[in-house]
Amino acid sequence: MAQLNILITGGAGYIGSHVAKQLLETTTHNITILDNLSTGSTKTLDTLKTMREFNFIELDLKEFAQVADVLNTNNFDTIIHFAASIVVPESVENPLKYYMNNTVNTTNLIKCGTDAKIKRFIFSSTAAVYGEPSEVPKDGIDENYLTLPINPYGMSKLMSERVIQDTALANKEFKFVIFRYFNVAGADINYTDDKLTPRIGQSFPNATHLIKIASECATGKREKMAIFGDDFNTLDGTGVRDYIHVDDLASAHIKAIDYLLENDSDIFNAGYGRGYSVKEVIETMKKVTNTNFQVDNAARRAGDPAALISNNTKIKTKMHWSPNHNDLALICQSAFEWENY
Ligand SMILES: NC(=O)c1ccc[n+]([C@@H]2O[C@H](COP(=O)([O-])OP(=O)(O)OC[C@H]3O[C@@H](n4cnc5c(N)ncnc54)[C@H](O)[C@@H]3O)[C@@H](O)[C@H]2O)c1
Repeated sequence: MAQLNILITGGAGYIGSHVAKQLLETTTHNITILDNLSTGSTKTLDTLKTMREFNFIELDLKEFAQVADVLNTNNFDTIIHFAASIVVPESVENPLKYYMNNTVNTTNLIKCGTDAKIKRFIFSSTAAVYGEPSEVPKDGIDENYLTLPINPYGMSKLMSERVIQDTALANKEFKFVIFRYFNVAGADINYTDDKLTPRIGQSFPNATHLIKIASECATGKREKMAIFGDDFNTLDGTGVRDYIHVDDLASAHIKAIDYLLENDSDIFNAGYGRGYSVKEVIETMKKVTNTNFQVDNAARRAGDPAALISNNTKIKTKMHWSPNHNDLALICQSAFEWENY
């Protein structure tokens, strides 16, 4: 296969670093990571450096002139764009931060990319573009489901999706894959002497994701946690989400690079198509880590849908992606081992 020249924005962050890891370990493509290290980790970059050489550019995407310079001088053929602000409640309090960093900076990246004749653009979108579905269809939410984000984070991503789609319509040389991630969790599946020893994981403190918080409780870093709402219309009353292991999500990105060499642009849900309740996740975390921690009941949060489960037929049949770690216990275990590291 041809050697590609790939730019990864946000590659020092949680998901981007897992994609960088797979590209470094399983391909010979030239890799450049661009990151402003606002939530990304230099320790993660050091770990990636032990796998194979890559270029690192410390830069904020809001520096338009420098971004143009980087793209004009590096001859990239593919951009995988992770860099973004990602905290939903913060997006409600500070919407302009989200529209600037997520929508404006993405638009500029695409402008500079097309000026520099980039051919492929792979984008991290989110199930938040589906908003608050009143009812999840029996076989999950597919890509044609109504998009109606209920917070600035989701809207900033949906607007970026539109910019990407319109650019591809007008410019036949520019192709994209947009992934709408469901709930991403877990850490690098790596074994040392048969023991799960993740080398990278979610590093940024104050994360708001359920499995990260439960793993912090299991390690004792956090004293207790809350369940927000136990009166939803679900089997046990707590919210149901579709958790995808970060390494499986990463492998979808590697597939997307090849996919775009032969196929047209498209949008794909990235999830397992199966939901677990908050209670099930907490029980699984306690069981696999053999720990117990305090869990309180709290009021529902505004805008939390009862259930959000993907229909993943499209990514499986069109991209021929299949997961390797579709196992909630393994997801919880890897998150815990990383947290305990
Ligand atoms: N984590 C999830 O569950 C989830 C779910 C859906 C979608 N996503 C999307 O996946 C992508 C990656 O998320 P993550 O969980 O890895 O987050 P993260 O915060 O760990 O990673 C984001 C990275 O981008 C960098 N960055 C942010 N703004 C930048 C800027 N202006 N210039 C340069 N670098 C910048 C940060 O330093 C960080 O390294 C985001 O686009 C996010 O919206 C994540």
